[in-house]
Amino acid sequence: MRRPIVAGNWKMHTDLASAVALAKAVRAELADESAVDVVLIPPFPFLAAVAEAVAGSPVGVGAQDCRAESAGAYTGDVSPPMIASTGAAFCVVGHSERREYHAETNAGCNAKIRALLAANLTPIYCVGERLDVREADGTLDLVETQVRAGLDGLSAAEAVKLVLAYEPVWAIGTGKVATPKQAQEVHAHIRSVLTDLFGADTADAVRVQYGGSVKADNARELLTRPDIDGALVGGASLRAFDFASIVRAVRP
Ligand code: PGA
Repeated sequence: MRRPIVAGNWKMHTDLASAVALAKAVRAELADESAVDVVLIPPFPFLAAVAEAVAGSPVGVGAQDCRAESAGAYTGDVSPPMIASTGAAFCVVGHSERREYHAETNAGCNAKIRALLAANLTPIYCVGERLDVREADGTLDLVETQVRAGLDGLSAAEAVKLVLAYEPVWAIGTGKVATPKQAQEVHAHIRSVLTDLFGADTADAVRVQYGGSVKADNARELLTRPDIDGALVGGASLRAFDFASIVRAVRP
């Protein structure tokens, strides 16, 4: 049985005061959550304050990106050990907005995933196709390539610690959500790739979130499909009640 995980990616929203207020509001909504892992993913400058705001509650914290190196002359970058030192336990890797605006590659994601695991952080590795790829019937091949390259060289013991997120790029922030059937098809394919790479036991244990216009009113239908283990939520994670409603919708 995989434990569902719902993460709220705040992207480049909030300021220090509103980030702390949102974290406290989510904490109040989900103070007794015991069936779903919940993660808040604020911008870097607010990680420590958000971690403090949810400390001692079931709500966890993650970062939106990292650099693969631990330290060095990399102005503007943030390393996994820095993230860990704030109290965060998760980090998104390869979000489509990073792939698009920062030219992130699968190989670069692989390096970040290894660095995060070495720092005892849980990577949330994002994969997903653009609309032209879906229309050309290339979705499963592209996602398979992203998974194989991103997880290249990992052992089964490492892979089991990962979270994956399938996010069709055409569904992110557009209100155009994948149908449960479309999402389940890709999730099942991801699991078959994981089985090929790491064996059935590991593939069965790895959680694969869906992301892309998940809202309170479509969450249950999507997130109760057999290979969908929760959600990576953007827009709807900026309102505590809406985000908490998505968490409630995925409770087993
Ligand atoms: P969205 O974003 O829920 O606003 O579509 C999802 C994401 O980018 O993770």
